[in-house]
Amino acid sequence: PIIPVILSGGSGTRLWPLSRPERPKQLLSLTGEQTMLQLTALRAAGEHFALPIIVANGAHADQVEAQLADVVTEVQALILEPAGRNTAPAIALAAIAAGGGSDPILVMPSDHVIADVDAFHAAIQAALPLVQEGWLVTFGIAPDAPETGYGWIKVGERLAEGVHRVARFVEKPPRDKAEAMLAAGDHAWNGGIFLFRADMYLGALSVYAPDMLVAAQAAMDKARRDGLRIWPDAEAFAKSPSDSIDYAVMEKAPRVAVVPVAMGWSDVGSWDALYAISEADGDGNVCRGDVVAIDTVNCLVRSEPGKRVALVGVSDLIVVATGNDILVLPRGRSQEIRKIVDALKR
Ligand code: GDD
Ligand code: MG
Repeated sequence: PIIPVILSGGSGTRLWPLSRPERPKQLLSLTGEQTMLQLTALRAAGEHFALPIIVANGAHADQVEAQLADVVTEVQALILEPAGRNTAPAIALAAIAAGGGSDPILVMPSDHVIADVDAFHAAIQAALPLVQEGWLVTFGIAPDAPETGYGWIKVGERLAEGVHRVARFVEKPPRDKAEAMLAAGDHAWNGGIFLFRADMYLGALSVYAPDMLVAAQAAMDKARRDGLRIWPDAEAFAKSPSDSIDYAVMEKAPRVAVVPVAMGWSDVGSWDALYAISEADGDGNVCRGDVVAIDTVNCLVRSEPGKRVALVGVSDLIVVATGNDILVLPRGRSQEIRKIVDALKR
């Protein structure tokens, strides 16, 4: 069976004021009743999958455990990082916990939306034969903008039905490069979801990031275990370089393949992105919570319990009210939220 590995370490500031360090995006329900983490776990449950391994920020242990207990029966392990060292070491911890053998692991960010789960499962099945042969596989999303916050993949020769060699992997390109790749038409975005054998990943680390492998192994050897909770040793893990799987492995490894897939993927990286994937009412509004909207069109409005938001005669706004904070900005400018977050830090 495939072992799902769910990464829940991001701090997520782009959905301020809702996402905060103590309650990052993956622990929020944004598109429906369930949280992003819960939806991720449900997406990789069932006959083809083993129980998931979660790698999370130790500070969120109780929330993560409670949210998962709500939707899936059990987890295989809950690895609680003393401090985040980015995705490559986090995945190393999981691959070690999985036994480091030839079973495939499916690495999934906990904060993405995938509308078409059947298409996702079909893409996984298409990838499996090459994965078993030792390839590192990622899933490619058709790009529609010159995004500089994603990894870009030049889709190369066909290896099998639906599977292509990665001709080149470019993590987070500058704007002009992203524009050129978009125009070229033969590139995909890296969806940030990976499928490979645990032993192949650890083997790649031993070549491209040996210090990371040594640190992750030591952290797991000295880990404190408490039921399904695993606390890697803080001192040992702190010795790991901090790097993403994209830079540490995917850009360097020779046998990397991509499965292009149309599955309604979004990383919900902003309030505008959330508006785009949400179903609007007849006035183009996406409202959630206690909201009164009169003569109001094309707005995203969200109020948390205890707040009421009332609007008259406005359009194209994003309004979010939670706790002591109220956010108001025009649609199209939600990337600028980091300016608010920076200003609040000062
Ligand atoms: N456990 C753990 N520990 N999880 C982490 C850590 C960590 O230290 N750092 C990040 N994560 C989790 C995040 O919560 C997120 O779910 C996932 O790993 C990816 O990390 P991001 O920080 O969101 O990566 P990114 O968005 O900059 O880039 C990645 O995703 C893009 C698609 O959304 C890359 O894979 C890009 O190539 C890709 O296009
Ligand atoms: Mg991300």
